[in-house]
Amino acid sequence: MGYYIGIDIGTSGTKSLLIDEQGSILAESSAEYPVHMPKPLWTEQDPEDWWQAVKKTVKGVVKAGKVKKGDVKAIGLSGQMHGSVFLNKKGKVIRKALLWNDQRTVAECQEITQRAGGREALIEMVANPALTGFTAPKLLWLRNHEPKNYDNLAHLLLPKDEIRRRLTGELATDASDASGMLLLDVKKRNWSTELLNKLDIDPSILARVFESEQVTGTLLPEVATELGLSPECKVVGGAGDCAAGAVGNGIVKQGVLTASLGTSGVMFCHSDEPQYDKQGRLHTFCHAVHGKWHMMGVTLSAAGSLQWFVNQLCCELAKNKKIDPYAIINEEAAAVAAGAEGLYFLPYLAGERTPHADPHARGCFIGLTNKHGRGHMARSVMEGVAYSLRESLDILGQLQVPVKEIRVSGGGAKSPLWKQILADCFGQKACTINAEQGPAFGVALLAAVGDGAYRNIEEACKATIHVVDRVPPRKASQKTYDAGFPIYQSLYQALRERFEALGKLS
Ligand code: XUL
Repeated sequence: MGYYIGIDIGTSGTKSLLIDEQGSILAESSAEYPVHMPKPLWTEQDPEDWWQAVKKTVKGVVKAGKVKKGDVKAIGLSGQMHGSVFLNKKGKVIRKALLWNDQRTVAECQEITQRAGGREALIEMVANPALTGFTAPKLLWLRNHEPKNYDNLAHLLLPKDEIRRRLTGELATDASDASGMLLLDVKKRNWSTELLNKLDIDPSILARVFESEQVTGTLLPEVATELGLSPECKVVGGAGDCAAGAVGNGIVKQGVLTASLGTSGVMFCHSDEPQYDKQGRLHTFCHAVHGKWHMMGVTLSAAGSLQWFVNQLCCELAKNKKIDPYAIINEEAAAVAAGAEGLYFLPYLAGERTPHADPHARGCFIGLTNKHGRGHMARSVMEGVAYSLRESLDILGQLQVPVKEIRVSGGGAKSPLWKQILADCFGQKACTINAEQGPAFGVALLAAVGDGAYRNIEEACKATIHVVDRVPPRKASQKTYDAGFPIYQSLYQALRERFEALGKLS
């Protein structure tokens, strides 16, 4: 019997998971770390924090699962996408990594678009427009703003691939995560020599691209000893957290979508072909399913919006260690009717990706009256995030993507209220599957495939994942949200230019 570990290097923390060949979860462990915000809309993390969290949680699951040294056959890595780990030629981290929700690279996005020969030409090369969160603009930012650091740069890695380097010594990535660097020819599933030339980037700084289930190396002996594992333990390609989360939800064929409520929110669909939105509103990336693709829309602050609300506006609840602040907030929000009595929340706390691609956008409560209380505000946060995901769902509809089933996942989906709001707002059943672990589970399954326990990831998902709950939409609330959606959409349009002016002031 083989055992597999999935590791997800997230934004608020790292989660590790131990499964057996049947996909049963034997142990899980998580560890948190901070996000540094040196300026508004700038976000950074120290790769050393990820590494300590990975070691702690892997040791945690090895101990709790009572597995022997040689039992764990393979590890899968997932992680926050788009982050930039800058390394010098000795393999030392040059500066803190810039994260996926960092918005400092507006000028660099313009530079990339212009060097590529315009937005359409860029989309033709790498399937996506230049967005501030992506990795290539971060690299150009280093070149433009920290030339000394740029001169020392020998390698550019994504967060989970830096962990792979520390585990195995290998410089490797996988096609799904590499897609989010804006340097990958997504159709060909390898680096775009054309764009690298136009941007004057040396291809030798980039890692080798693998498919998600392919073995990229084995554990370094000293690391294996420290973790209590065998040096023969393999590390497979793994995936960016969106594709990994989709695999963990069984999104490996057309028609089944996932709406996830993590720090960010993602509306994700599988695609057999590299189909893309010519307007560049959705991302088209390689999937973690061998030789397949996916499209997705991203709400930058989803459960992150509720976390902000609880930490900043419900401080007395957040500080009280004896209670669960989210349980109280959910109860208060559930007591308010759908539509929060005309209160709207725009979840643009970190700017927004889909559909606006606007780094200047700001979070707002709109429509406050003296009748509104904390429950209304909490409910409007959940509704604002649901409307934002509905914008992605709408675009998928415009692209004729079939929608047979929507599976909801992520920390926010643990709230029955938020799940119901999603069902009502989408006008679709919100389904939940048996495994709640999303990305970590997805890459643990990919590790099992890489070890030969399954022929492919489709087979592994079929054997281990099934729907356990279906929440149908309620007619009356659905009507409220259908009426509220165009109002929600018009609020951004009305404020767009003001957001930019606000940015200039701060
Ligand atoms: C996806 C994205 C986020 C991060 C968060 O494009 O930026 O979902 O991967 O973990």
